[in-house]
Amino acid sequence: MNIMIVGGGGREHVIAKYVSQNPRVKKLYALPGNGGISQLAECVNISAEDISGIVEFAKSHAVDFAIVAPDDPLALGAVDRLEAEGIKCFGPEQKAAVIESSKIFAKELMTKYSIPTAKYKVFDKLDAALSHAALSDFPIVIKADGLAKGKGVTVAENFGQAKDAIIACLKGKAFGQSGERILIEECLRGPEVTVLAFTDGKTIVPMVSSMDHKRAYDGGKGPNTGGMGVVAPNFYYTDEIADECMRKIFLPTVEAMKAEGRVFRGCLYFGLMLTRDGAKVIEYNCRFGDPEAEAVLPLLEGDLLEIMLAVREERLSEVSVKFKNAASCCVVIASAGYPGHYITGYPIDFGNVAGIPGVEVFHAGTKYDGGQYFTNGGRVLAVNAVAEDFTSAREKAYEAVNEIHFEGARYRTDIGAS
Ligand code: AMP
Ligand code: GLY
Repeated sequence: MNIMIVGGGGREHVIAKYVSQNPRVKKLYALPGNGGISQLAECVNISAEDISGIVEFAKSHAVDFAIVAPDDPLALGAVDRLEAEGIKCFGPEQKAAVIESSKIFAKELMTKYSIPTAKYKVFDKLDAALSHAALSDFPIVIKADGLAKGKGVTVAENFGQAKDAIIACLKGKAFGQSGERILIEECLRGPEVTVLAFTDGKTIVPMVSSMDHKRAYDGGKGPNTGGMGVVAPNFYYTDEIADECMRKIFLPTVEAMKAEGRVFRGCLYFGLMLTRDGAKVIEYNCRFGDPEAEAVLPLLEGDLLEIMLAVREERLSEVSVKFKNAASCCVVIASAGYPGHYITGYPIDFGNVAGIPGVEVFHAGTKYDGGQYFTNGGRVLAVNAVAEDFTSAREKAYEAVNEIHFEGARYRTDIGAS
């Protein structure tokens, strides 16, 4: 089979690695891919947002199966366009991807189908939003409706912060169309858990739970990022909570999407908060998380490509999806300045990382040129270690991180410490 992966980050690298292990794969393409992926696949310089370019490439290169991994092409309808050309895909159609691309859609869905989530109100007028905020008990959460590269959420501790966030969205157009409507939500408290799940619209199979670390600096300080590290499984997520989530959140979400004529096929991402009143949904994503995928997929025992094909063909109940009884710790090494401005193009020295058992280095933002890797993004590498227990996984991940050097390299030292 000829396989195409759309995207070029750490998530696409881990997918490329496990998909390429399937003996049925004849040719693997990545659009655009990155330095690490170039060792496994032919990288093609077509952006993940260039939907026409992606479709034309797939048609002219006899692609049999496309894995559309990032949110933007899914929201732009890449799967619909590829499927219309007879190219099977892993990933939801546009009308199902809306579960991530419109937070207001997601909220209305949860309200209609009694799926637990934070209380909220929707605003498109500045005055009304500011008056609501002025009367709120703080903290409150302000969210842009649409995709905002992980930056559209502000947890406001006081009216001043709320006002700035509301004005940035509704007046300053900080997120363009994505922020033309906003949500103001009740602020929930409790540990956060991510659960990725394969679903074909009929069956849902959750993967090992995980915990992202979204803030840039140690101790959960600094600005939000795409994710600075992950541990899996998440120690707060007990079997009992997993059962509750399956009954009250996972199955009802799949059923709700079906009932709305928006069958979801792909990886559904549940961002949950374990509150005193039970688990509640913070957000849905219509794809694997990044870096969650880099921590979770190394624990998968089944064949990733076969599972993805089964999802597309609505026979997920027939395949085995098992996970190792082990732990992952994934530490992201970023460029100095990320998530703000950063400089790229520095050579990367991997030291003796290849000699540490259980460690895999996934490339998030790198370029391969003349036998050398260079930094090429904000998040540069996702270093994951798998071990029998969490403490060893964490030790190994940091042992590996200490081997790797490039100018301005920065990482959190407390992944999984709390
Ligand atoms: P999101 O992009 O929706 O995942 O939001 C980013 C982060 O903001 C989440 O991971 C939470 O830490 C926080 N957050 C979002 N919504 C809420 C909420 N209703 N209550 C508390 N924290 C929230
Ligand atoms: N790591 C969070 C996300 O992928 O949305």
